[in-house]
Amino acid sequence: MSRPEIDEMPDLSGVDEIWIGYPIWWYTHPRIINTFFDQADLAGKQVHLFATSGGTGIDGSVKELRETYPGVNIVDGKKI
Ligand SMILES: Cc1cc2nc3c(=O)[nH]c(=O)nc-3n(C[C@H](O)[C@H](O)[C@H](O)COP(=O)(O)O)c2cc1C
Repeated sequence: MSRPEIDEMPDLSGVDEIWIGYPIWWYTHPRIINTFFDQADLAGKQVHLFATSGGTGIDGSVKELRETYPGVNIVDGKKI
């Protein structure tokens, strides 16, 4: 699976709660979101997801990310 490069990862030290937003592409998150999950140290943080789309919900994306990153506490996901 492709992992588009992130130019500069944010410093998340001292951050307890994080909101990650993205567009739905082909019924799920863009692969750069996987890059972010691969590279960010999200242990012990609460992660909230939100997405825009042309109609597709976010549930499939949330399920896929929870399965791929079981160590990450994905609290919820909301399509806006
Ligand atoms: C490559 C690509 C794939 C997309 N796939 C979906 C999709 O599977 N379901 C959907 O509802 N919208 C899809 N969209 C629409 C985007 O989710 C939408 O353009 C994005 O959320 C931004 O919203 P806006 O165009 O209203 O600014 C896709 C857009 C692109 C560019």
